Amino acid sequence: MAITFTNHVDELLKSFIDDMQPSNVLVLADDNTARQVLPRLPSLATATAIVIPAGDCHKTIDTTCQVWQQMEAAGATRNSIMVCLGGGVVTDLGGFAASTFKRGIPFINVPTTLLAAVDAAAGGKTGINYSGLKNEIGLFSHARQVVVSTIFFDTLPQQEVLSGYAEMIKHALLTSREDFFELTELEPATVDWCEMLPLVETSVNIKNRIVAADPHEHGLRRTLNLGHTAGHAIESLALQRGTPVTHGHAVACGLVAEAVLSHMVFKFPTDLLNRLAAFVRDHYGPVRFTCNDYPALLQFMHHDKKSRSGEINCTLLRLCGDAVIDNVVSDDDMSTALDIYRDLMGI
Ligand SMILES: NC(=O)c1ccc[n+]([C@@H]2O[C@H](COP(=O)([O-])OP(=O)(O)OC[C@H]3O[C@@H](n4cnc5c(N)ncnc54)[C@H](O)[C@@H]3O)[C@@H](O)[C@H]2O)c1
Ligand SMILES: [Zn+2]
Repeated sequence: MAITFTNHVDELLKSFIDDMQPSNVLVLADDNTARQVLPRLPSLATATAIVIPAGDCHKTIDTTCQVWQQMEAAGATRNSIMVCLGGGVVTDLGGFAASTFKRGIPFINVPTTLLAAVDAAAGGKTGINYSGLKNEIGLFSHARQVVVSTIFFDTLPQQEVLSGYAEMIKHALLTSREDFFELTELEPATVDWCEMLPLVETSVNIKNRIVAADPHEHGLRRTLNLGHTAGHAIESLALQRGTPVTHGHAVACGLVAEAVLSHMVFKFPTDLLNRLAAFVRDHYGPVRFTCNDYPALLQFMHHDKKSRSGEINCTLLRLCGDAVIDNVVSDDDMSTALDIYRDLMGI
């Protein structure tokens, strides 16, 4: 897999496609990227467009079947290539559909959300939701090329920008105090993203270094779960209540809760914890809950995929750049961390 960082996406795509000499080119987009992004790429004007409905609720086997049918109808062969043009839903489902069609055709990921750029498009995880479970069916399969650009973020809704930014903060926390300070000094909502390609490149490279060292998630890759035990529970609670929040919003809150735990267990410095909490409170706002919601939140955490035998399992930090995986956290400690999260977030 190769990753290229460029804001000249069309030229690059054209040269990749010319080099690969595919029998035909398919482009997978969702409703939004078909309308807002595809017209910006003349090199794909003659490609067969396959358009799926936008949203994680459509990352399903039914949508995948429709994609396979359209690939077949377009006469796709193993010499075809699929360009996945969209957020994480398109790159996850597209990578899965391409990797399973005729035992696998090559695909190129062109992430169009910040979250897909820094998290979903590279790393080799493809898949779909199934039977009410996220990413239940899928395979590790790397894109032939990943083209990361920031030019598409100008049409991205604010909350989607923030969603990706939470994963960037996570990568920074896993790297260094300097990286963390740099990100928490910026205003993600008003920044000119076209100029932010180097910042995104840094973030992608952090994840890539971790993934390259542990591609199948035996150890080091689990550091990337930072913020996600509490974050997934908060995301699930919000969904269950019928007031969903973006994945990144929940992760931002999860990072705060797990930074509190990191402070309790490993004395993660108070100044860093307070800085993180203030940034999340001011830019994202809290996901609100009370102590009456703790049983539901703890239940989600006990059933998290990361849990091995039903215990709550978290990645925690000693310092920025010094993560400890596989910490078993008691219900009492997690409840205390949630109390402190609510104090820090002013709820
Ligand atoms: N494979 C992995 O390692 C990995 C990692 C993290 C997340 N994911 C998956 O990624 C998905 C979430 O990704 P996401 O946040 O990108 O969601 P998404 O793909 O649903 O995109 C979010 C929204 O933004 C719209 N959009 C995309 N690009 C746009 C643009 N340039 N302008 C305007 N609108 C645009 C989409 O149509 C959608 O409505 C989840 O399914 C998650 O499971 C996968
Ligand atoms: Zn995440």
